Amino acid sequence: MINKNSPVPLYYQLEEYIKGLIEKGELQPGETLPPEREYAQKYKISRMTVRQAINQLVNEGYLYRQKGKGTFVSERKIEQPLQGLTSFTEEMKARGLVPGSQLVHFEIIPAPSPIAEQLTIAENTPIYDIKRIRLADGVPMALETNYISAHLAKNLTEQIANESLYDYIEGQLKVRIDSATQVIESSIASKDEAALLNIAEGAPVMLIQRKTFQKEGTPIELVKSIYRADRYKFMIELKR
Ligand code: GLP
Repeated sequence: MINKNSPVPLYYQLEEYIKGLIEKGELQPGETLPPEREYAQKYKISRMTVRQAINQLVNEGYLYRQKGKGTFVSERKIEQPLQGLTSFTEEMKARGLVPGSQLVHFEIIPAPSPIAEQLTIAENTPIYDIKRIRLADGVPMALETNYISAHLAKNLTEQIANESLYDYIEGQLKVRIDSATQVIESSIASKDEAALLNIAEGAPVMLIQRKTFQKEGTPIELVKSIYRADRYKFMIELKR
């Protein structure tokens, strides 16, 4: 599998080989990777080459290192299509994962001017300020803060917020969710975010801001989501 006569760099051959083992499930999430020297001896390549392959796999998120313990296989990332206006609950169910929420904050507040402006309501109009940890099979995946006008979201309870907000908006409020704008940026987890997501402070995350609209253009919700970059990747199909 390592072909020294090939023009393909050795580190890249090893990288692809290990990646293949992970993809085929021959190396399972959480499993320890054999030590560098083992690969070096087995394939008669330098440890530098092995390290380069492993570094690449760490950078790509296939592996992670723990100080003093070794290198481990990462959990598989959830690949989320960017097309389609779906809810967290729908996305998890579509992957056969059990969606869950843990409510961190639930309060009606007077809308501060920048949020009021985005929701096209007057400043200080009451809005729900909801913060939830979103879970997949019980594992924290994202942290979401939703702002919804209290005038629109009637009888919104903590119990509803613990479940699907989109089910509530469409099922109970009979408001049709029509479109959204979404902006994705890279960021790092603050101390508080890291604690809630069970990741290290400063770990890479994706900041996703979504604004959802009804058909005639009235905003429904303003959402700030912090997704774990070690568990998520986004996919979009492009046509030319
Ligand atoms: C996704 C979106 C959020 C939206 C949420 C609704 O996570 N990023 O903007 O508020 O889905 O999910 P649910 O219906 O599960 O509460």
